[in-house]
Amino acid sequence: MNNVIILAAGKGKRMQNLLPKCLNKIIDKCVIDYLILELNKIKFDQKICVVNSSNNLIQEHLKDEFIYAYQEEQLGTANAVKACLNLIDDEGYSVILCADTPLVSSDILNKLISNHLKSNNDLTFLTTMIDNPHGYGRIIRKKRKIKIVEQKDCNYKQDLIKEVNLGIYCINNRYLKYLNNINNDNNSKEYYFPDIIKFLNKVEALKVEYSYNLEGFNDLRQLCELELNLKKAINLSHLSKGVRIIDPVTTTIGRDVVIEPNVIIYPNCYIIGKSIIKTGAIIKNNSTIENSYIGSNTIVSNSVIENSKILDDCQIGPFAHIRNESIINNNVRIGNYVEVKKSIIGNNTKAAHLTYLGNVKCGKNVNFGAGVISANYDGKHKFSTTIGDNVFVGSNANLIAPIEIGSNSFIACGSTITDSIADYDMAIARSRQVTKRSYMKDKKEPE
Ligand code: UD1
Ligand code: CA
Repeated sequence: MNNVIILAAGKGKRMQNLLPKCLNKIIDKCVIDYLILELNKIKFDQKICVVNSSNNLIQEHLKDEFIYAYQEEQLGTANAVKACLNLIDDEGYSVILCADTPLVSSDILNKLISNHLKSNNDLTFLTTMIDNPHGYGRIIRKKRKIKIVEQKDCNYKQDLIKEVNLGIYCINNRYLKYLNNINNDNNSKEYYFPDIIKFLNKVEALKVEYSYNLEGFNDLRQLCELELNLKKAINLSHLSKGVRIIDPVTTTIGRDVVIEPNVIIYPNCYIIGKSIIKTGAIIKNNSTIENSYIGSNTIVSNSVIENSKILDDCQIGPFAHIRNESIINNNVRIGNYVEVKKSIIGNNTKAAHLTYLGNVKCGKNVNFGAGVISANYDGKHKFSTTIGDNVFVGSNANLIAPIEIGSNSFIACGSTITDSIADYDMAIARSRQVTKRSYMKDKKEPE
């Protein structure tokens, strides 16, 4: 059987946080998710993940996509692979990867596998030249023999070697039995997987061109570097496809985001998840867009949009919050300090200032004055508000849900509307003003 084995049992002490290393996030995903997306493009008979038994967090995250091997004590990478032996037969090969090198592409793994099979190797592994090789196992090529020396075991001369082991291997299963021959006679007192080379005949160190996504991380600084590099690569790819990113340094875009050409993104924006931005849209400073659709020529300014769909020619913000599967149809204006939750807003409707629309289904050409509130919650349950077309809702009106407001109706400002109204009705629900002429004259304190 052909397997992929991900080593993820290490304690990740150098990270100095409590999460398993591979569950740290970069941009909008746990690092392991990037690896899995690529692995899913390759066919393996078995996918095995080596975990430690201190918690179930990795299993809970990956669920039954993998079978799990448990490494009781973290005695090194050879010992981690050994934990899988009872799951593996002698036929075929195993691709072995480190969970802390999460951005490797399926292309490079396919290259490793095809090279391995074509050259009929016992073991093939990837190397590259790295400017700062500190922390990596160094490659020593002597005539036809290859050796890997770990950082902690390097002498002064070996320390200068820039060709490094990337920790990405393909080995014929029948040679995994040599794991039993590896000892921990080294400065870390660990069982090193690369030591298996000593027991094999046909080993190829396949040198590939350096790319940031071949790098691993052991601490937060390296994780941050990996994230910066990924961010930069994503931004460059959008720039090359006609997306105007004004400040790529402060712009974060997730890997799964789709942005059409002729979109402009101002500084400090965060666009993540499965978001789609259509041509002509302008995303102004400090906007967060998560799992949302932004239609053509829509302008979003300083706003937060989550799990929602905004169609064409809309103006959103500044300082709007649109969330929970809201749908904003064409040419709608959602303005300053307006929150829209789980609502559908019809074409050409305007809520320009200081408004809350929660569980509202609203027709087209509706005008909400400043400060309109849909009171949708009684402390226990949420209720909905239905508003027809061409309605005028005056400023500072409260719409107490559940309620229906007919088309072409008019609600006077300052009204608290508790009863539904029909098409063409006018509702006013506020006490009459009392004006006491010159009343204040007597009240004035003498100067
Ligand atoms: C390892 C390689 C090194 C290579 C580098 C590439 C060894 C001995 N060294 O070093 O040659 O240049 O990767 O990034 O293999 N793990 C376990 N159980 C353990 C120890 C580790 O599952 O007992 C897992 C870790 O969770 C990690 C991976 O194996 O995902 C690599 O372990 P790590 O300790 O980070 O190895 P490096 O020092 O980076
Ligand atoms: Ca590592």
